[in-house]
Amino acid sequence: MADPVEFHDRMLSLGLARVSEAAAHASARLIGRGDEKAADQAAVNAMRSQLNLLEIRGTVVIGEGERDEAPMLFIGEEVGTGNGPEVDIALDPLEGTTLTAKDMPNALTVIAMAPRGTLLHAPDVYMDKLAIGPGYPDDVVSLDMAPAERVRALARARGCRDDDITVCILERPRHEELIAEVRSTGAAIRLITDGDVAGVIHCAEAELTGIDMYMGAGGAPEGVLAASALKCMGGQMWGRLIFRNDDERSRAARAGIRDLNRIYRRDDMVRGEVIFAATGVTNGSILQGVKREPNYIQTETLLMRSKTGSLRRMIYRNPVR
Ligand code: FBP
Repeated sequence: MADPVEFHDRMLSLGLARVSEAAAHASARLIGRGDEKAADQAAVNAMRSQLNLLEIRGTVVIGEGERDEAPMLFIGEEVGTGNGPEVDIALDPLEGTTLTAKDMPNALTVIAMAPRGTLLHAPDVYMDKLAIGPGYPDDVVSLDMAPAERVRALARARGCRDDDITVCILERPRHEELIAEVRSTGAAIRLITDGDVAGVIHCAEAELTGIDMYMGAGGAPEGVLAASALKCMGGQMWGRLIFRNDDERSRAARAGIRDLNRIYRRDDMVRGEVIFAATGVTNGSILQGVKREPNYIQTETLLMRSKTGSLRRMIYRNPVR
């Protein structure tokens, strides 16, 4: 007979897919409308309503911001019906608000759930990130290596030339040196304008996406979401928080972080088994975006569980009445 806990876990994962679908549906009308705030707000409202239907005692640990900055889905907000397992929730109702407003690729709605106390409470600061897909020896690259050295080490491990490697990097002035150094090896760079959760996920499906490695600084909360996805798909990830001022250091203190220089590995950010769901908002290389037809609306959702290594891609078509 099926283990009841396992069964509950599976049912919850399907519930989590509905949460990310609901957020994508809600933001769909705002794709390409130039209004980032409205798109985000629509996704937040829908994600919160659907999340509160789940049979969980959930606490948001990665959310829309600290309590005084975000009225909904703030860090520490309790979500779910209040019955069921105690869980940590990490979410980004719209990962890629600008991508959505400008109808550019790879905007996603994202949510992860893990047992209480197992997700890193990452403060809202930047994180220096490095990620590769599955199949490589442990620590074949590291944050302590120079960027060019990482390219060379990965090429050796893959058995290819340095110029066969493709690295994904956020296009930002802060990455000018990083980009120049990676280019000096001959490696290709896929520059993205936003959306580094999708950027990291690309590494786990290198044959499909053509991306071997992700590097650079982006949001720390997005780092925990990306680590959750990689824990389900396989792959290694490292992150080090970046503090630019005292305010950011005090955010870390409030989140209970003492060692400001620590390098977090994937499983330091996600210490338990995790369920991860993401739905495409705009079309992308990982997921199709929301498709609106006169009679129906369609979404594609990626749903994964680290415990089983299972991965579902679900097309959901809903009649528009
Ligand atoms: P939003 O959807 O919240 O705007 O985040 C998009 C994003 O590109 C993240 O994927 C990334 O981690 C972060 O912004 C990078 O921050 P910045 O734009 O300050 O470089």
